Order: sequence, then structure tokens, then C-alpha cells
Amino acid sequence: MSLQKEGWGTRVGLVLAMAGNAVGLGNFLRFPAQAVQNGGGAFIIPYLVSFILMGVPLLWIEWTIGRHGGRHGHHSTPGMLDVMGKSKWWKYVGVFGIFTNLTVAAYYCYTESWTLAYVWHSVTGAFAGRSAQEVSDFFNEYVGMTGSFFNFPPLALFFFLFTLTVNTWILSRGLAKGIEIASKIGMPMLILFAIFLAIRSLTLDAGEQGAVNDATLGLNFLWEPQFDSLSNPKVWLAAAGQIFFTLSVGMGSIHCYAAYVKENEDIALNASSAGWMNEFVEVVLGGSIVVPIAAAYLGLEWIQNPGNVGLAMGFRVMPTLFQNWGPMLAALAGIAWFGLLFFAGITSSLAMGQPVLAFLEDEYKIARTRAARIWGVLILILGLWTVFFYGYGAHTEFDDWSGTFALVVFAMFEAIAFAYVFGIDKGWEELNRGADIKIPNAFKFIIKYVTPLFLVAVFLGTLISPLNGNWNEAFSSLFRGDGWPLDGGSIIGKIFHVGVADTRWFVDGAPSPVFVVDMTRTLLLITFIVIALVIRSAWKRKEQPSA
Ligand code: ALA
Repeated sequence: MSLQKEGWGTRVGLVLAMAGNAVGLGNFLRFPAQAVQNGGGAFIIPYLVSFILMGVPLLWIEWTIGRHGGRHGHHSTPGMLDVMGKSKWWKYVGVFGIFTNLTVAAYYCYTESWTLAYVWHSVTGAFAGRSAQEVSDFFNEYVGMTGSFFNFPPLALFFFLFTLTVNTWILSRGLAKGIEIASKIGMPMLILFAIFLAIRSLTLDAGEQGAVNDATLGLNFLWEPQFDSLSNPKVWLAAAGQIFFTLSVGMGSIHCYAAYVKENEDIALNASSAGWMNEFVEVVLGGSIVVPIAAAYLGLEWIQNPGNVGLAMGFRVMPTLFQNWGPMLAALAGIAWFGLLFFAGITSSLAMGQPVLAFLEDEYKIARTRAARIWGVLILILGLWTVFFYGYGAHTEFDDWSGTFALVVFAMFEAIAFAYVFGIDKGWEELNRGADIKIPNAFKFIIKYVTPLFLVAVFLGTLISPLNGNWNEAFSSLFRGDGWPLDGGSIIGKIFHVGVADTRWFVDGAPSPVFVVDMTRTLLLITFIVIALVIRSAWKRKEQPSA
């Protein structure tokens, strides 16, 4: 049994920390980008269905696995799955819960550090008087995209180190004195900033302060449901992917936070509250800022151009649009926008740190402060990779494998483990113990059959997505005998560099982007293997009789 005596200070603190875990950069940057790229209103129905059939059940599954694991002294997924499963191999499935948190935190902390830097630039008025092109170039310069394969951006490095130090320090203070306090400050602040920006955004009318359209144009685009999207697997995959990322399911961080909940305390209502709070922040607030403002100034056609919208849009484009509001309001909007992103980011990155600390504390009996330092060093090493090779796709590669694919694989395993290894009856009883709400019985059926099937479908879809997401054409091609046209973005397509014309590692003696991509994948694979070995060694140590 673990010697840890840590726990949450208050229920409000727990729910805010869990909501803070979920509410992140994904809510304000990834959600608008995904919604727009998948047809706005066409995205919203698959998104909400995925939330109900996959997101909510996974939240309950993860909180249950977590609280059960905590009771057995395990606050990270290897130990949790070990006490649930009947075979010693289940702990290796738990590798995902360490791997994902570690590798996502690496590129995530780097992205989070941009937000802090941009708060600073907004305060100093760095964007005032710059053209749209200059603001966009400013970002390239900031991250050191010089066109060469190695970037060394001094300011970005400074802010990355600073952000990492703040994260490490908060983590070293522990659950109640560190993470809980950060969430109690961060969550209200970000909601306040978001409400301010949402009001400013939604009151923009055509002809006012340089706007060419009413902001409601963007809002209608997002919210007018298009039912034909229901038969489009590409939109379903994107919607399910967003649900994973935004709720932080399939990561191992929810399990970890839930492990500190006492045996008979509610998890059913807490899980739902944190999940719905995330959805409110994402759909209502996240949907009311970037898209309406961009639609008001740049038009719908602009935001639907895949080259324009993406994670970096918040940095490349938003500061220019704020300039239309006059120097004072532009500075305030910049501080609010990047400030809210920072608070959203840090409450999520802390949640990615805690499982690693808990693993070191539980399984290696390492003291918290030392465990926090070890985490800081590991994130520094992995994160520097994404800093140095940002321009050649290292950051995206981390996001694709760790932040997208690994979540689906782990969620699929844990859903199966919960319903079929632990057993749905036992799981259901565990979930409902101490519950402050009555979960409809239909969810027992959903958790047993629908969620696992949904996850297997998402997994297969991600593996073999056809060219441009055109499934009809792909099936026709298959039945014509012309084979399955793989998309370069599918997992198999990525492994074989489908669609990449030149796959040489070196071109004219210089490393190519393909080289960086392959090296990044190798680094991720090595990280995964090392974690598995570390887990093996921890269990071997435990099996040895103590001297
Ligand atoms: N759930 C976190 C986010 O949305 C990771 O950014």
C-alpha cells in the first residue's frame, strides 16, 4: 500500500482542478479550428453525440478506475490497471498513462509558454501599428522558423524555461497547496477573461471598428446544424478526436486526480460537473471568440481556408484583429486572450505532471519535491526537441502520436478493461458508490457495448482514413479492385509517408523534414519503451523480499 497521505482540500477544489485539467488550449484554439475545418454546423452534431456516447462514459470509467486504484495505493495507471486486471500484462497498458502525459506535457508546456510571452508582448504594445503580415511574421520569428532544420529562438526558450519552472514549482507544492490553489485562481480568471472577450466579440457589428460583417455571421456558421454531416466519417473522426483532447480522456490524468478521492465520496456527480463545465467553456465561450471575431473582420471564406485556421491562428491573427479596437482595448484584449490561454494551459499541464509524480512517489518511493524535479528535467529534454525542430514538424508529430492517436488506443483498452476484465457489474457498483446523482441505467448498456464499439470504430478509422477523408470514393475504389486509397494523415499512411514525394533523409547534405519526423517518432518510441522498462523494474523491486 502507498504511504501517501495526500488528498484534495475541498470538493470545489477537486472539481475546479478536474475542470481545469479538461479546459485548456484545446477549448479556445483547437475547438474553433476543428469546427471550422469540418464545416461549422456540420461538426456540432457528431461532436455532441461523441460527447454523450463516448466522452461522458469515459469520464465515469476513468474516475472509477482512478478512485479504485487510489484505494489500493496507486495514483497512476500502471498500478491501477494492475489491480483491476487479472493478468500481469495490464500494467503495461498503463504505460500509456505515463507516456501520454509526459510527451503531451512537453509540447504543451512549450505552447503554453507562447501565451505567457504574448501576454508580455500585449502589455508592451509590441503589436501596435504592425500590419497583419508583420504580426504573422512576428510569430515565425518568435519560434525561430528560419527555414533551417534547427531553430534556436532565445526568447521562446526563455519563456519555455520560465513556464516549466512555474509548473514544476506548483507541482512540488502538492495537491492541495499547489494544484488546487492554481485551479481556484486560474479557472475563475480564465472564465472572466473569456466572458469579456465573448461580449466584445458578439457585439461587433458590420461597419463598426473596421468590421466588415456582423460577428453573428461566424456564430451562425458554427451553430446552424447540418444533418448530412452525420453520414460523413471524416467529420465523426474529427469530432471524436476533439472530445478526447478537450476532456483529457485517454490520458491518465483524470485517473490520477480521481485517485485522491476518498473511497465513499461521490465520483458520479463530480465527473459530470467537471465534464459539463468543460463543454460550457468550450462550446459557449470558446465558440464565441475566435470564429465570430475572425468572421467579422476576414469573412467566412477566409476562415474556411485550411491554410488560415489552426492552432497558431490565435497567435498569428488575433493580435492584428484586436488592433481595430484602439490601443487601450487592443492591449486589454491581448492580455485577456493570452492570459486566459495561459490559465487554461497551466491547469491542464499540471494535470499532466501529477501522474508522473504519483508514479515516482508510489512505485519508487521518491519524495514529491525530487519527483517534481525529475519531471521538470524530463519535460525539458522532450520539450527542447519540439523547440529546436519546430519548423520541421516535431511539434505536430508529438501532437499527432501522443495528443491524438495514443489517447484513442488507451481509451479503447481501458473501456474494454472496465467492462470485460473488471466486469461491468463490479464497475457499475464501484461508480455508483457514494454517488450524489442517479446515473440512468441506460449508461450501463452504453458503457458495456456502445462506448467500446465507438472506440474501436474511431481507432480503425484513424488507422486507415482514406484520401481526403472521402470514404465513399475509397469504398468504390476498393470494390473496383483499385485498392484502398490511404490518406497521408492516417496512421498507416503516416508510417509509410504516403503522399510525401521525396522521402530522403538528407537533401543536398542537409537533413530534411522527413528526417526530423522519423527521428521524432523514434524518440517517442524510445520514450514508450523506457517507461515500460521502468515499470517492469518497479514491479521487480516490489517482488523482491525486503532486506
Ligand atoms: N484538455 C486539455 C485541452 O483541452 C488538454 O487543452
